[in-house]
Amino acid sequence: MRIGILTGGGDCPGLNAVVRAIVRRSVMEHGSEVVGFLEGWRGPMEGMVMPLTLQGTGGLIHRGGTILRTSRANPFKCERGPEKIAEQMEKHRLDALIAIGGEETLSIAEEMSSKHKLNVVCIPKTIDNDLNSTDFTFGFDTAVNVVMEAIDRLHTTAESHNRVLVCEVMGGNAGWIACYGGIAGGADFVLVPEKPIKLKEIAESIKKRHARGRDYSIVVVAEGAHLEGDKAQPPPTVNGNKRTGIGERLAKLIEEETGYETRATVLGHIQRGGSPTAFDRVLATRFGVKATDLVHEKKFGRMVALQGNLVVDVPISEGIGKIKSLDMDLYGVAEVFFS
Ligand code: F6P
Repeated sequence: MRIGILTGGGDCPGLNAVVRAIVRRSVMEHGSEVVGFLEGWRGPMEGMVMPLTLQGTGGLIHRGGTILRTSRANPFKCERGPEKIAEQMEKHRLDALIAIGGEETLSIAEEMSSKHKLNVVCIPKTIDNDLNSTDFTFGFDTAVNVVMEAIDRLHTTAESHNRVLVCEVMGGNAGWIACYGGIAGGADFVLVPEKPIKLKEIAESIKKRHARGRDYSIVVVAEGAHLEGDKAQPPPTVNGNKRTGIGERLAKLIEEETGYETRATVLGHIQRGGSPTAFDRVLATRFGVKATDLVHEKKFGRMVALQGNLVVDVPISEGIGKIKSLDMDLYGVAEVFFS
């Protein structure tokens, strides 16, 4: 077979590990050839391709980002987008496409599969871990480790200055990164989009904590979290951009309510950069191998997923349309350590 690959949407650590795994499995096990489309869905529309060989994809497992580059290009928002993709698939004699991406990339793939009969298999990725049908996406563990290390560093300086430090992390729709990172880093409060922020309660808890002699506090807040009763906050939507500056705003409000010096740190894209953790390298590799095998079994319109410790495949439609919100039992574990 001849297979095309693309990486779409925001990047995350582990994308290159997937590319490496697909090429290795395709060439060595199935005797197939692989080409990479560049810059997400722009590649198969504009015919931007690069050959992917064993030699060219060796030594990639540790590298962050994506050698295929990425974009948020959407063929359904471009003139003749789906037709152009069909033409390029034919021009490059491709039998199938493996699309690696988040909610938007997967939604496009589903429509290309169901309405335009493209032979496509998907691999879910996002640092946010908010895709349905899979327990974990690669990139998430790396992001959580970045958050944990940042909180470790914030702890020592917060303690030295008797300050409240607010740490804003990614997660526009779901609080997975905030919750895992906050638990691992020993945060004193974790605030997530799933639960409106009760400013007065938090301020009271911080005051009590400081009265007990703990003269500093670490507050982790997901970028999509919002204050209770805050009308300015748009409701969560799939693919919504939730950068409302909640970290800075919250720091100002906490300082006003408590009288304690409070500063904000926004971790931003640091959470998406750098080398993947061992967990993400292994998950990305397992997903790549499984997706390659699905293509060769001609099981199109499917996406790979981690359920428990098993890599399975489900219809692409099961992974899209609705975000996977934070498990509130897990949030309950974070709450044990609040104040
Ligand atoms: O990958 C998902 C995500 O990291 C969100 O948490 C964040 O809001 C968004 O991407 C940021 O994307 P961009 O790179 O477009 O700023």
